[in-house]
Amino acid sequence: MTSQANSPKKSPACCIPLFSSPIGRKWIVAITGIVLVLFVIGHLLGNMTIFVGPDAMNAYAAFLKSTGEILWVVRIVLLACVVLHIWFTITLWRENLKARPQQYAVKSNLGTTVYARLMRLSGLTVLAFVIYHLAQFTWEAFNPEYKSWFDAQGRHDVYRMVVTAFSCPFVSAFYILAVGLLGMHLSHGIASLFQTLGITTEKLRPVFETSGKIIAWIIFLGFASIPTSVLLGLVKVPSSLPACPFCH
Ligand code: HEM
Repeated sequence: MTSQANSPKKSPACCIPLFSSPIGRKWIVAITGIVLVLFVIGHLLGNMTIFVGPDAMNAYAAFLKSTGEILWVVRIVLLACVVLHIWFTITLWRENLKARPQQYAVKSNLGTTVYARLMRLSGLTVLAFVIYHLAQFTWEAFNPEYKSWFDAQGRHDVYRMVVTAFSCPFVSAFYILAVGLLGMHLSHGIASLFQTLGITTEKLRPVFETSGKIIAWIIFLGFASIPTSVLLGLVKVPSSLPACPFCH
């Protein structure tokens, strides 16, 4: 028998110092949160090409697809961030239930807002929305005909797909609600990640809270502007839209 075999078994969490302390786990939640917020901002900027026109949006989508392996690396990193963010949020929440009060790097009253109390609910709803969203636009599971829509240049007609989907008021309303919850989640989340990283002071706290709210509002209004513009007829496809399964 080797000495290794006799030594007590360590759980994987004990082997990685970052995972084994509450502060380390909070850092993981904060860093994965930053990565996800950066993705959301990037995705919003990309989606804004819809206001430039079909050519701009389809060219942007085709460019993303053309990145091949890089796109897959980004997808894997994002998936890992989602899993870690949720896993360690749940772990910390369970630990906090056992041992209160919650220890932030700087004590604050952030935990008292409605948004703070709804963090878990808004987070899980956003997760459910993302799964629906992937099924709709990435896997094209609800409308397989989207797969065969190409523009004059032979690129996937993402513009037509999005405008067609949002021409249904139920789909648009659902998106607006979901991005509203995303905004709520980010409004509190952005402010609290600065606390977790220990860079908040009494003086800076209002600055971070206001910045969190402004970023969250920009993200909400930016995403919500797309279905709203389609419903108002400001963004449309030249050809007639296929019938919406809910409305017709
Ligand atoms: C009005 C709002 C939105 C629109 C119009 C939109 C549009 C799209 C489209 C068209 C795609 C597929 C791109 C392609 O395969 O060519 C996509 C993918 C995706 N969207 Fe959105 N999106 C919106 C909001 C969001 C939000 C709020 C999130 C996250 C919270 C999100 C997360 C994603 C993810 C993770 C993908 C998969 C990216 C990949 O293929 O790797 N989207 N979106």
